[in-house]
Parts: sequence; structure tokens; C-alpha cells
Amino acid sequence: MKVGVIGCGYVGLITAVGLALKGHNVTAVEIDPIRVEKITKGIVPFYEPGLKNNLKKCLNKKNLKIANSLEDTNQNEIIFICVQTPPKKNGAINLKILESACKGLANILKNTKKSKVIVVRSTVIPGTTDNFVSPIFKDSKVDVAINPEFLREGSALADFLQPDRIVVGTHSKKAKKLLLKLYKVFDAPIITTTPSTAELSKYASNTLLATLVSFSNEIARFCERTKGADVEEVLGIVHKDRRFKLSANRVSTAGIISYLKAGCGFGGSCLPKDLSALISYAKTLGEKTPLLKAVSTINNSQSVRVVNMASNIIGGLKNRKVSVLGVAFKGGTDDLRHSPGLRIVEELLKQKTKITIFDPLVESAALKQYRNKGVFIASSLTSALKGADVCIIASNAQEFNHLNSSGKLFGRTIILDGRRILKIPTSKEDRYYGVGRYINNHPIKLGL
Ligand code: UGA
Repeated sequence: MKVGVIGCGYVGLITAVGLALKGHNVTAVEIDPIRVEKITKGIVPFYEPGLKNNLKKCLNKKNLKIANSLEDTNQNEIIFICVQTPPKKNGAINLKILESACKGLANILKNTKKSKVIVVRSTVIPGTTDNFVSPIFKDSKVDVAINPEFLREGSALADFLQPDRIVVGTHSKKAKKLLLKLYKVFDAPIITTTPSTAELSKYASNTLLATLVSFSNEIARFCERTKGADVEEVLGIVHKDRRFKLSANRVSTAGIISYLKAGCGFGGSCLPKDLSALISYAKTLGEKTPLLKAVSTINNSQSVRVVNMASNIIGGLKNRKVSVLGVAFKGGTDDLRHSPGLRIVEELLKQKTKITIFDPLVESAALKQYRNKGVFIASSLTSALKGADVCIIASNAQEFNHLNSSGKLFGRTIILDGRRILKIPTSKEDRYYGVGRYINNHPIKLGL
């Protein structure tokens, strides 16, 4: 089928490459000419495993074309809109970019004789497809649908090609028929529903993940104050519940348990933004959101707790050397948006600490603003740890796992394992601290 994709950001490019890999003919439109030039040459403007090779494969096969004018989508029967919906200052969703893409497209389509199906792929609050997008196309022969994405950075292409579910929200029989045809080649349940249910299902999914992370971090707070309790063991026991297992043999574990793990808090471009957008949306409905607000409060305080823990361990941070390992919002990505590691760095800066940052995937140029504030950007683990009083592990980057066996690297540096990824080195137990591990005189009161 002929498919247009508007926006070559994260979701757009994955959608375009994914559909091309599944045999469709895709035209992807991007307004930034530099991005168009790069992508046309097979250069992916962000880090995502497997994307570069598959992009090149589709470009060579010529079933993926990158264009920079909306008019290039005119020949397509289905057009996906994959533009950002960033938060406003007050946390509410900002639909300006979506509005401009829809208006530009409506302008082009108003004289087109052949009808089109417009599919919103951006994350939008319930009611947006019906009350905001559809009216923009009222003068065009257009049917509208919403098809939320459930892509995790770091495994987004695999998530696209082998989805858990495909959700299609529409009132239009034609849109439903065409989208069912488009997704026929995918091995996944396809749920067709109303646009509002589809829209809310995306928020429900992401805020559940956020809730699990904050729940785990609250349980960790008990462990930090309760001698003999350790959050890894406590949640490890919770994980054994057969309701988290995939089969009767109780061996295969559901992936959701990776969110039932204590850490430095959640980050990224999705969970924090969707949480605040849903809280804002509730206000417009006159609903209170005590649970979601608590999820947000716990998350916002987690990095402060970690820094205060470090301060307590070494008796103050002023002029002490602290290394922060992992400043992307999670391992397997170079994305710095709403990163817990950078929240920790900001806290340390307030305390006039001498800071070193190391992240295996983040280019030092991306951290320029921190370098300008006096932060040292290390290019290797060895240089990051040299002379450090404390090392805070802030992300679950795979590269940090091997630290288990090479205790030598740490020397006399105190380890504060913010993601509980290291095996506790028995020989250095007195120098190992972690989120959710008992600590004498914890500096923070429970319930912060
Ligand atoms: C998330 C969802 O997982 C996707 O399903 C969704 O499609 C996507 O948002 C989106 O809306 O586009 P992503 O932002 O890539 O994907 O991040 P996750 O892998 O879900 O991780 C989110 C955050 O939670 C990260 O900061 C991660 O480190 C943190 N996390 C995760 C924890 O702190 N603890 C955990 O146990 C698990």
C-alpha cells in the first residue's frame, strides 16, 4: 500500500522504516532540510539499534522515499501524522505542531479528488482526534483515525515489527478497513475502538509504567530505613508471584517486572510528559488525580534523595569529587530528555560538587552546557572514576554491568548504586551503597 508519514523524528522514522520493511511503499516527509539530507544518505539523526542498516536497506530497495514537502504525500491513500506533542510550561499538552501539520495537509488535500485516511500517531489526550484533528479536515475528502504507538527507545524497531497490540481508534468504516489491510502483515492482535479509548489507552499504558517505578521507589524508601531489608530481595520476592509469570511452569517472567525495580526515577520524553498531560487533562474534567500526583511527587524527589544519600555517606559534597555514570535517561539510548542522571547532576551543581560525567552512548558535544558549568565529561570509565570520592550509577547502561567483576576499577571510590545493577561486592561491602539498601541515619524523612 502507498503510505505517507509526516515527521521524521523518532516515531515517524521508525514507522516509515517499519512499514517499508513490511513491504509497503512509504514517503516520509520532514520539514528540516538538514534532517532530510542526512536521512536520504542513510544517516539516522539519533541513536537507535538496527535502524541505520534497515533505513539503508529500504532506501536502496526504493520503497522508502524521504521528501521535504507535504505535497509529496498527495499520492498516498494513508497518511500518518507523527509530530511531537510536547508539554506546555504548566504540563498540559501543546498541540501547536500537530495543528500546523494538519492545517498544512488539509490545505493540500482540499482539492484532491481521491479520498485519504489521515492517521494520528502522535500521543494526544482523549478527544483530540474527534474534536481537534477531524474539524481541520472538514472541507477535504478525509477519514480520520488514531493509531497510538507503543515503542520503547532502544528497541523501537523491534517493537514496531513485533507489536504487542495494534490499536486503531476511528468512527470511519473506510479508515478501519484500510488500516486493517495495512496491518494484515503483522502478527499481533488488532483492537479497533473509538478514538477516545485509543487515545486514553496510550496514557493508561505509560502512566501504569510510571506508577510501578514510583511504587518501587517508595518501597525502596522503607528498605533504606529498615535494618536487614533490601529492595532487590523484597521486589524479587514480589516478582515470583505466578501472576507475573507467563506460563504455568512459572519460568518465563513478564517484561513488566522490569518496572517493578527501584532506581533513580523514570525519565525520557514519554513517561514524564504523558503523566503531566493526563493530570492536566483531569483538571479540565474536574477530576482529582491523587495517585498520579503522588507518582510524580515521588519521581521528582528521587534524584534529591540519591544526592542527599551521597552527601550523608561522605559528610557533605562541597568540593568533593563525584562521578555520575549514565546520563542518558536509560541504557541503550543517547536521549538526555528528562534524564534522572542529569537531575542528579543539577542537584550536585547546587552543592558545589566537583562533577565528572560518563555515558557510553552520549557524545560529549551534547553535554556542552554542563562542561560550561565546570563539569568534566569523561571519555572512559577509567578516567571517570579516577580520584572520585563517590560514584553514582544513574542509568542501567549495559556497559556498567561488567563493573561487577572489576572491583579494582573503583579503588577507594564509594559506590552509590542508583539502579541496583551491581552484584554487591562482599569484599567492599563497606564501600557499597544502593537505593533501597539500609543506610544508617538516612538523611531524608520517609514520605518526602
Ligand atoms: C515508554 C514506554 O515504555 C513505551 O511503551 C511507549 O511507547 C513510549 O514510552 C512512548 O510513549 O513513546 P521509553 O520512553 O522508551 O518508552 O522508556 P521505558 O523503557 O519505558 O523507560 C522509561 C523510564 O523508566 C526510564 O527512565 C527508565 O530508566 C525508567 N525505569 C524503567 C525505571 O526507573 N525503573 C524500571 O524498573 C524501569
